Amino acid sequence: MTNIFVIKKKINSFSNRRVVVSGDKSLSIRWVLLASLADGKSKSFNLLKSDDVKASIDAIKKFGINVKLKKNFCEINGKGLNGYKYKKNIVINAKNSGTLGRLILGLLANCDEKIKIIGDKSLSKRDFKRVTDPLRKFGVKFKLTNNKNLPLTILGSKNLKPINYNEKKGSAQCKSSVIFAGLRTKGTTVIRAKKSRNHTELLCKYLKLPISLSRGKNYDLIKIKKAKKIKSFNYNIPSDISSAAFFIVLTCLTENSTLTVKNVNINASRIGIIIILRRMGAKIVFRNRRFYKGEYVADIFVKSSKNLKSINCPVKLNTSSIDEFPLIFLVAAKAKGISFFKNLSELNQKESPRLRLGSKMLSLMGIKNEITSSSIKIFGNPQINIKKKIIIKNYLKDHRIFMSSVIAALTFGGEWHIHDKDSINTSFPNFLKILKEIQK
Ligand code: S3P
Repeated sequence: MTNIFVIKKKINSFSNRRVVVSGDKSLSIRWVLLASLADGKSKSFNLLKSDDVKASIDAIKKFGINVKLKKNFCEINGKGLNGYKYKKNIVINAKNSGTLGRLILGLLANCDEKIKIIGDKSLSKRDFKRVTDPLRKFGVKFKLTNNKNLPLTILGSKNLKPINYNEKKGSAQCKSSVIFAGLRTKGTTVIRAKKSRNHTELLCKYLKLPISLSRGKNYDLIKIKKAKKIKSFNYNIPSDISSAAFFIVLTCLTENSTLTVKNVNINASRIGIIIILRRMGAKIVFRNRRFYKGEYVADIFVKSSKNLKSINCPVKLNTSSIDEFPLIFLVAAKAKGISFFKNLSELNQKESPRLRLGSKMLSLMGIKNEITSSSIKIFGNPQINIKKKIIIKNYLKDHRIFMSSVIAALTFGGEWHIHDKDSINTSFPNFLKILKEIQK
C-alpha cells in the first residue's frame, strides 16, 4: 500500500460536527510509567494507542511488569516503587518518543544493571545531554553517543544525592525526568523550572506523593522528596489538545463551518494555541468545563473565522503551544498582515526541525516568510488559493508535519502529495478516520 497521501480538493463546509480525538499523549505515557511503579493494578480508559505509548508499555514489560492492553482499557499490574527487575542486557527502544526516552531515565536513576536506550532515526538526532546532565548530578552514570545522543547506556546508583536544578529551556521532559529521579532520592530535590506543561507535577500531587509546588510568574518552584509508595490508580485519559488542534485549525480556515471537539484536556500549560488563535480573531469557546483528577477538561467549540489578523506572538505563549506551531504558521499564512514568532529555537529540537520545515512548507505554498535560527516572520495572504502541485517529503517522518500538511491541503487548495502517511501512528492513529467523519 502506498504511503503517500494525495489531496486534490479543498474540504467542503461542514457544520455542527462533533468529534472525539484520542487520549492525551503526555498523560498516557505518564500514566503508564507511574502505574508501573504503583502497588497493584491500575486501569486506564481512553489511553492513546499510538506507537509512542506502545513503546512505553513495551519498556515497562522489559522490567517484568504485566500489562493487559484491551480494546476499552489498559491494566498495569505495578510491583511497587522498587518492583522493576533489572536483568542484564536490557535494551529499551523509545522509537520516536522523546517523552519516553527522557522520562524513563529519571525512573531508572537507581537501576543496578546497565540499560541501553535506543530510538529511531529522528530520536537519535535529538539532544539527550539536556537530561543526562542534571541526572548525573544525582550520581547516575551515562555513556552517550557523541556525548549527547542515543544510543546511550544508563547505570543508576543506590546512593542518589538530591540536587538543585535550574531548568531554563521550558522542557517538561527534562523537568519530569528530574522529578522522577527526585522521588527515588533521600533528601529534598529542588527544581526551579521555566514554565512548561505540568502534568507530572499534577499527577504526583493527585497521587499524594511528596511534592510541593509554588508558582511564580515565569518559573515554578518544585520540591520533591523520596516517595515511600505509589497507590494504584485508575485514570480516564482526557483527549489531547495537540490532536484536537488539527481540527480546530481546519475549522478556523474553512468557510461556514462549526465543530465541537469533546472532552479535551485544557490544562493552562497546554492551551497556548487557543490563546494565540483567539488573538488572531478565531472564534473558539470552552464549554462544559470540569475538573478531573488534577486536570481541567472541556468541550471545545470552534467556528470558521472570516477576518484573521496577524500576531506578534508573545514569547510567554511559546511553551504552552510548542507542538502546535506548524499549525499556527498556517493560520498566520491566511491572516492579514505580518506575523512574528520569536525565541523559538526549541522548535528545531523536535521530531524534525519544525521551524525550518514550517518555513519550507510556507515557501512551497507561495507564502513569503523570513526565518532565523529562532524566529519567523510570516507575510499572510487572506486570499491564498494554491493552484500548483506540492510534494512534502524527507521530513524525518514527523507526525505533526504530515498532519499539518493535510490541513494546509484541505484549506488552501492545490494538489498535495504528502509522504509518510504512517507517521500518524506516532501520536494520532485515528487522524484520517476522524477527518473522514468530518468530511462526510
Ligand atoms: C512533552 C513535552 C514537550 C513536547 C512533547 C511532549 C511531554 O517537549 O514537545 O511533545 O510530554 O513532556 P519538551 O519537554 O522537550 O519541550
